[in-house]
Amino acid sequence: MTNNPFDVFKDLYQLAREKSVFKQKGAICISTIDEDGFPDSRFVDLKEIISEGFVFCTDYASKKGVSIADNSKIGLTVWWEHISTQIRVKGIASKVSEAQSQQYWDTRSRSAQLTTWASKQSQLLDNENSVNQQLEKYRQKFDGQYVPKPPTWGGYLIKPKYFEFLTFREDRMHIRNAFVEENGIWVESYLQP
Ligand SMILES: Cc1cc2nc3c(=O)[nH]c(=O)nc-3n(C[C@H](O)[C@H](O)[C@H](O)COP(=O)(O)O)c2cc1C
Repeated sequence: MTNNPFDVFKDLYQLAREKSVFKQKGAICISTIDEDGFPDSRFVDLKEIISEGFVFCTDYASKKGVSIADNSKIGLTVWWEHISTQIRVKGIASKVSEAQSQQYWDTRSRSAQLTTWASKQSQLLDNENSVNQQLEKYRQKFDGQYVPKPPTWGGYLIKPKYFEFLTFREDRMHIRNAFVEENGIWVESYLQP
């Protein structure tokens, strides 16, 4: 029976988290294509793995949000040195529902929520105090109250089309196991190191 790449990912992710010494255990690198056609990569926090794919949250008006609106093809990469594992995923990004985004928002700390209001992610910083001034403004505005979700903050679902798992070997004889989605079925193959 063919392996399910989601199960392989989930098992490795659980192992990586258990053995990680880092605080940001869910950091994943996501790559989008920018307006000049360049790949553009940055780390985000993997919020959840659901049956359809991988969810991360961000500002939809950020650079990555603008890129995804223009080209929904996306890459996800991890390197978990402590378990000798690299994973590469290619997929399609789409916004999750408002209700789902609201649930993710409610899991954030109050300080992270306030920073989201204060920062226009990826916009030029005109002076070093401007975000702190905005932060103070929103602290006062929401003082003693629930901090609502800004309309432009929410989740993206990465629905995978391709997975590749690499087990790192010191002698560079890495084991590379790929899965391609063809008509709803995951077809498994091995690649030379
Ligand atoms: C470990 C780590 C986790 C991060 N998590 C997130 C995240 O979940 N969402 C987010 O928008 N940015 C996150 N960031 C910041 C992004 O790397 C990036 O700087 C920001 O999203 C702006 O990217 P953009 O200008 O390409 O849109 C994280 C950075 C690091 C180093």
